[in-house]
Amino acid sequence: MEEKNKTDYKSLIDLSRLPKHIAVIMDGNGRWAKQRGKARVFGHKNGVKAVRAVTEACAETGVEYLTLYAFSTENWNRPALEVSALMELLVFTIGREIKTLQKNNIRLNAIGNIDSLPNKCNLALKKAIEETRNNTRMTLTLALSYGSREEIHRAFIRMYQDVQEGKIAVEDINPESIRDYLYTYNIPDPELLIRTSGEYRVSNFLLWQIAYTEFIFTDKLWPEIDKEDVYEYICQFQNRERRFGKISEQINR
Ligand code: FPP
Repeated sequence: MEEKNKTDYKSLIDLSRLPKHIAVIMDGNGRWAKQRGKARVFGHKNGVKAVRAVTEACAETGVEYLTLYAFSTENWNRPALEVSALMELLVFTIGREIKTLQKNNIRLNAIGNIDSLPNKCNLALKKAIEETRNNTRMTLTLALSYGSREEIHRAFIRMYQDVQEGKIAVEDINPESIRDYLYTYNIPDPELLIRTSGEYRVSNFLLWQIAYTEFIFTDKLWPEIDKEDVYEYICQFQNRERRFGKISEQINR
């Protein structure tokens, strides 16, 4: 067990320089459960507690967008029992948390091939998205059946169709117009990406959107993450110098 850090990171956060959008690759639920001699689903259930903690920490701090990688296109290859348990957990959690989302003025959003989800899941998700669509404090986006290459492939096809139908000209295709064809068309690029469980990969997550994103990797397993960790990561982010290809003197002038 890692020793609990005593620094009060929350009080060190500069509220005028918050990351507007934090994206998270939640990893390590299975290992966390295994360490306790339990089934993987036990890890996912405890992962939901971390989802809650991170969502609260972000909303309370003033982060405007939080995106969680909950299920990738590759995750369909997991054992059928785990896939169906994850879907059940998703339906259950959405149903249980919708009131809290409303109360806290949080808008639920989803990116990915949502229509490939089981019907029950798809319906619960769409209902929650519809019911929370006017909330303004924070947008919580769940990446579900999401894969960045699938997203970009889909964007290519839709762009090609729009060119063919005369809706756009080839000359109009540029980095700005490309973003209109991504699932994330209505959310800004993440400034901070956090991945848990000591894995140093991007795993097909937001490949286009993370061009200038700061990365934080932690050895902690996802169910171990709490609010204090979020405050600490925001502080770490604020201590980095983001140069966007420029030199230090140009940034600090
Ligand atoms: C990664 O751990 C976790 C997932 C693929 C699923 C994440 C899902 C949840 C936290 C619960 C549902 C979420 C919401 C938003 C209601 P892993 O299984 O890859 O762990 P391992 O690498 O240790 O095997």
